[in-house]
Amino acid sequence: MRLLDLLNRSAALLARAGVDNPGLDARLLAAEVLACDRAALLAQNMRELSEAETSAIQSLINRRAAREPVARILGLREFWGLPFGLNEATLDPRPDSETLIEAALALSGPIESPPPLRGRVGWGVSFSEDGNGGAGGTHPPPSLPLKGGGTMAALSDGKSPPPLGGGLGGGSLAARTETAEIAVPTPHLASPQGGRETVLDLGTGTGCLLLALLHEWPEATGLGIDIAPRAVEQARANAARLGLEDRAAFRVGHWLEGVASRFDVVISNPPYIASAEIPHLMPEVRAHDPLAALDGGADGLEPYRLLIPQLPNVLKPQGLAVFEVGQGQDIAVADLFRRAGFTSVATRRDLGGIERCVLARYMP
Ligand SMILES: C[S@@+](CC[C@H](N)C(=O)[O-])C[C@H]1O[C@@H](n2cnc3c(N)ncnc32)[C@H](O)[C@@H]1O
Repeated sequence: MRLLDLLNRSAALLARAGVDNPGLDARLLAAEVLACDRAALLAQNMRELSEAETSAIQSLINRRAAREPVARILGLREFWGLPFGLNEATLDPRPDSETLIEAALALSGPIESPPPLRGRVGWGVSFSEDGNGGAGGTHPPPSLPLKGGGTMAALSDGKSPPPLGGGLGGGSLAARTETAEIAVPTPHLASPQGGRETVLDLGTGTGCLLLALLHEWPEATGLGIDIAPRAVEQARANAARLGLEDRAAFRVGHWLEGVASRFDVVISNPPYIASAEIPHLMPEVRAHDPLAALDGGADGLEPYRLLIPQLPNVLKPQGLAVFEVGQGQDIAVADLFRRAGFTSVATRRDLGGIERCVLARYMP
């Protein structure tokens, strides 16, 4: 069969299976089997495939038709322009989580850095109700070829629960106004560490958050903790692949249990889906991301309630906490920081305009 014919048939099969980007996914999987990039694939459109090639491509297409994400089939996800191996115990990292990296870099950079945040979304800036607060985010560094890119759009908000209702601060104007009052302007945002930060990553998964920061800060060191032993194995392998193993330690653990040191930055993307929402997630997420990476308890906020009050024990003075939140959880999580004694609290939006990251500076 000619490659073009197989691609057309595959795309039709994936479309019938409800896959969002059937043509793109078919090409990504064919490119993997034929060990070429997508441009080289195009050049082979009229080539007759061998039987072995045809059946290898069909087998990957059938997995995708069963709604296994492309990144899981390839075993690789690009995050912050870096390759991360995945396994069954790790979340497939989401592009939205790059918002946390942008925020940490902007707020912990050398003192001579240009002003890190723009518009109304930023340090000491009130929460925006009008939707015009400035998306704020800059793009990450130039990307490597996006091998697993086909699922990014489909999954980009797959881990975000719908807005939470009233009592949880899911978006009422009253709750937002109250939270806006806690924001304290901070004229000097930069950390004196200037790239030598110590970083703690809670719920490290593939290690993507910690390793992206260590990649950007050449003298930084860090610790990643996860409850899943196989996730910790994968994070170590990813550190080695990126040449960061000398600066990144990983261990199996339950959140902050046994953590005795203090850090300049504590970063975390905890599980934040409300338990009852999980059966309604798209199949790529529900059936392929591990439950431990998704389930945030009855309202999705349990990990934050547990972790945030303990952060003053592990942050250095002026240290920064950078937490991912699901859609509509920003106000409730900011409030948890305030109750834990953090006086400067702000949010950052992802590229979709959703408040994705809550930042808090520890100023004892
Ligand atoms: C949403 S995933 C984030 C993974 C990775 N940081 C990322 O952004 O792609 C949450 C992670 O928290 C881990 N986790 C869940 N409960 C935990 C606990 N009690 N202690 C430590 N890690 C936990 C999960 O295994 C999972 O790897």
